[in-house]
Amino acid sequence: MPMTVDAPFLNRLARIVRERGLDTTSGPVDDAPDPDLPGHPAYHHRQRVTAALTKFERATPPRYLTASTDHPKVCAWADQVAADVSQAPSLLLWGGTGTGKTHAAFGAVRRVALAGPGRFGFLATTFPDLYAALRPGAGTSEEREQVMRRVLSVPILLLDDLGTTAASLWTEETTYRIVNHRYTRMLPVVITTNEPPARLPELLGDRIASRLIEMTTRVEMTGRDRRLTR
Ligand SMILES: Nc1ncnc2c1ncn2[C@@H]1O[C@H](COP(=O)(O)OP(=O)(O)OP(=O)(O)O)[C@@H](O)[C@H]1O
Ligand SMILES: [Mg+2]
Repeated sequence: MPMTVDAPFLNRLARIVRERGLDTTSGPVDDAPDPDLPGHPAYHHRQRVTAALTKFERATPPRYLTASTDHPKVCAWADQVAADVSQAPSLLLWGGTGTGKTHAAFGAVRRVALAGPGRFGFLATTFPDLYAALRPGAGTSEEREQVMRRVLSVPILLLDDLGTTAASLWTEETTYRIVNHRYTRMLPVVITTNEPPARLPELLGDRIASRLIEMTTRVEMTGRDRRLTR
């Protein structure tokens, strides 16, 4: 049976629409949630970026807090990590003093954070500081184990200045334990060194060097010492 609508009803409806300032223009219905509210993809992306940047800033020394990189290979590495950390290689930045290795390393990780990855965790240290924190006698054995656990398992690990410490059986065993753990679990490490990759076997022994070569994207940083040419 066709539905009939009486005139007084239509007039009442028109008045309510007018009084409430409702837009009756026909058009597409926008049923996406507000970008400022939970439920909208932009809202959750912003939350992820904020959380990742906070972790990045907690782990980063002041000099490199705003580091960024435009090196195409380094950017490509960061984008791989941001897309899927479990499939990304490690990164080895090598080159002369002051060419920007540490800056690019932090810049790369900051780029990952800014992409708002699903999972982000970051720890940064230098090889000499790491050995100092882990050496027998440094803190309690629980403290040392806690440092080691974090170094082994953090999603992104930055180890600066490989090859600046005199090698010993102990440094080699410690480095092997870290590199092999992260190699087998495919957890990315960002390593910087002044040494060319061809010298790694001599510097670290064949077993560590072989793993590092397989697991890393290697990028040479070139140019003058930026500290001297400001
Ligand atoms: N792309 C860049 N833009 C602006 N400043 C940069 C850039 N790269 C490096 N720098 C600055 O140049 C200086 C040297 O850079 P960095 O510390 O990264 O050198 P490095 O290669 O790690 O040196 P070293 O081998 O001595 O550790 C730092 O003050 C750093 O902030
Ligand atoms: Mg450096």
